Amino acid sequence: MKVDAASDDSGARRVQEVAMGYYSSQALYVAARLGIADLLSAGPLSAAGLADAAGADSDSLFRVMRLLAGQGIFDMDSDGRFLLNPAAEHLRSGERGTMRDLVLVFGEEFYQAFEQLLVAVRTGRDAFTISFGRGLFDYLAKYPDRGRAFDRAMGAGAVFFSAVPQVYDFDAVQTVVDVGGGNGTLLGAILAANPQLQGILYDAGPVVEAAAGNLHEQAVAGRVRGVAGNFFNSIVEGGDIYLFARILHDWTDDQCRTILGNCRRAVNPGGRILIIERLLPGGYATATDVNMLAVTGGRERSEEEFGTLMEGTGFRLGRVIPLPLEYNLVEGLSV
Ligand SMILES: C[S@@+](CC[C@H](N)C(=O)[O-])C[C@H]1O[C@@H](n2cnc3c(N)ncnc32)[C@H](O)[C@@H]1O
Repeated sequence: MKVDAASDDSGARRVQEVAMGYYSSQALYVAARLGIADLLSAGPLSAAGLADAAGADSDSLFRVMRLLAGQGIFDMDSDGRFLLNPAAEHLRSGERGTMRDLVLVFGEEFYQAFEQLLVAVRTGRDAFTISFGRGLFDYLAKYPDRGRAFDRAMGAGAVFFSAVPQVYDFDAVQTVVDVGGGNGTLLGAILAANPQLQGILYDAGPVVEAAAGNLHEQAVAGRVRGVAGNFFNSIVEGGDIYLFARILHDWTDDQCRTILGNCRRAVNPGGRILIIERLLPGGYATATDVNMLAVTGGRERSEEEFGTLMEGTGFRLGRVIPLPLEYNLVEGLSV
C-alpha cells in the first residue's frame, strides 16, 4: 500500500500544478510589461541582450524567460537565446489582435482583485470593489488611462471578433448598435465585412470618444455614429440588431433584465439581439465565471439561462452559433 501511494503522485502533482498557476501568469505579465516580444521582433536575443534593452536584471530575466519557454511561450535555442514563436507573437504591441494589453490588465488590476477572492467568497461581494474601493467600471471612469488600457485589452480579441461577420448574415440589416462596444473593434470588423451597414457605438462618453481613432484605422469611421449613454437608463433607438459582446456577464440577472428591457424599447420592429459570451458548462466559461465573480460581480450563464433571462423582456432565444476561443453568439428574437 505504502509503495503504491508513493508511486502514484498524480493527485499531489495536480494540486501542485494548480497552486503554482500564478508563477506562469505573473511571468507572462512580466514579459508583456517589459515588451520582450517587441524586442525579439528583429531576431533572437540572449537574456543579457534582452535585459539590457528592457532595463532588467539579466539572470532574473533569464529564469523567467526559461519558465515561459518551457510553457510554450517563446522558444529558447541551444545557445540559450530566446525567439518569438506563434504564442509569443500575440504579445507584440501595436499589432491588431495582440493579446498584450489583455495580459497587462490581467496581471495588474485583475491579479490585485483576486487577492480578495476569499473575502468575496465569504461575503458574496465582488473582489474588485473590496480591493479598489469602487466597482470596475467606476474605477475605469475615474482613472482614464486605466480605462483606455481596459478598452485596448477588450479590443484584443480579434480572432473571435473577425469570425462574427463570417458566421452571421448581416445582409438584410441596415443598422447595428454595439451596446457597450468598447473601442469599436467588433463593430469595425462587422462593418468592414458589410459595406451596406451603418453602425452605432453606444458606451460611456470617454469610451466612445477614445474609440474614434480605432474606427478610423479600421476605415469604417464614416459609417459609425458614437452615442454616449448609460444602458441602465436607456439605449439609443433605431437599430435592427443590438450587439451585447461580453456585456451581460458583467451583471446580475436583475441588472441584465433592466438592460434587455431598455433594448426592447429601442430596437426596430422585428429586430434582434446578438449576445456574445462563453456558455456554461464549458472549460473557459467555468474559469471566466470566477473571474466575473472577482472583478465585476456578474456571472457566466448557460444557453438555457440566457433563454430564461430573455423571458419577460420581449425577446426569445434564437440560434446559438459557436465562435473561436469558446465564445458563442446567442441570438435573441423580438416577440
Ligand atoms: C467587458 S467590456 C466589453 C467591451 C466590448 N463589447 C468587447 O466585447 O470587447 C464592457 C463595456 O461595457 C461598457 N459599460 C459598462 N457599464 C456601462 C453602462 N452603464 N452603460 C454603457 N456602457 C457601459 C464599458 O465601458 C465597456 O466598454
